[in-house]
Amino acid sequence: MRLAAQAVNDHLDSLMAETGDPEDRVIQAMRYASLDGGKRLRPFLVMQSASLFTVANSCALNVAAALEMIHCYSLVHDDLPAMDNDDLRRGRPTVHRKWDEATAILAGDGLLTKAFEVLALTGTHSDPSVRCELVTELALASGARGMIGGQMIDLMAERGLLDQNQDMAAITRMHAMKTGRLIGFGCVSGAILGKAARPLRQALGNFSRDLGLAFQIADDILDVEGSTEELGKTAGKDQAAGKVTFVSLLGLERAREQARMLADQAVRHLEVFDEKADLLRAVARFVVERQN
Ligand code: IPE
Ligand code: IPE
Ligand code: MG
Ligand code: MG
Ligand code: MG
Repeated sequence: MRLAAQAVNDHLDSLMAETGDPEDRVIQAMRYASLDGGKRLRPFLVMQSASLFTVANSCALNVAAALEMIHCYSLVHDDLPAMDNDDLRRGRPTVHRKWDEATAILAGDGLLTKAFEVLALTGTHSDPSVRCELVTELALASGARGMIGGQMIDLMAERGLLDQNQDMAAITRMHAMKTGRLIGFGCVSGAILGKAARPLRQALGNFSRDLGLAFQIADDILDVEGSTEELGKTAGKDQAAGKVTFVSLLGLERAREQARMLADQAVRHLEVFDEKADLLRAVARFVVERQN
């Protein structure tokens, strides 16, 4: 994961250069939010899924950078006082703490917009229909029926604005939207870039569904069990905010079992691939055993 992290970091750096103009303030906040930090799981998934097919590294890197931009924008906005009101992210003050709320909103907007500019670059793929498909899929994954919709439900649940109580089916759906869809884009983007046969793309999609859910359950567990220092973000925030999580519904032990079961299930979807998919298999283990 480290190699992909370094490569995507360098690429993000080159895509968001400062020019010395006054608007550099927002570029600086975008760079702060997206460079030097994070596990870089989503870029790793892009690079690994692309490695299953014949895809140029430079094309996969553009997609990896675009997806990480969307993820980082979602974190900047997630941390705002109007949402989770967090002061710490990736071991540093959140963007609105370092600058101010307006700058954080604009930095998030800037990252979101830049991601689609990068996908549309000819360097992302020589075939415009592939670029168009990437744009469509990333828009769907991050939009109101994807990540943004999941964030909406998360906040409504916290504020008691939902008609029904959140049961397992409802929280599974929320997790699939707020976290699973971006992870899903990472996993299938390699198949899109490589114009893979439908069953192979489907296998990656199925893998990502279980992986994404396992990932968010692990995030919910770490919020309870991890320390602020290890996590690089404030621990214990979910319970303090009255969030509905897998842990609040199932308890720690059953949530952990559920995450492990999903990771095993995720790996089984990769049976159609040979040892080239071994790092994807390994990431399923990492996702549930990770400490941050
Ligand atoms: C945090 O994502 C937000 C969730 C979707 C749970 P990550 O745990 O991948 O955060 P970074 O990128 O490593 O900081
Ligand atoms: C946020 O989930 C997921 C997105 C930003 C889409 P969380 O609110 O649980 O993420 P953390 O715990 O702050 O990283
Ligand atoms: Mg949140
Ligand atoms: Mg949060
Ligand atoms: Mg969390």
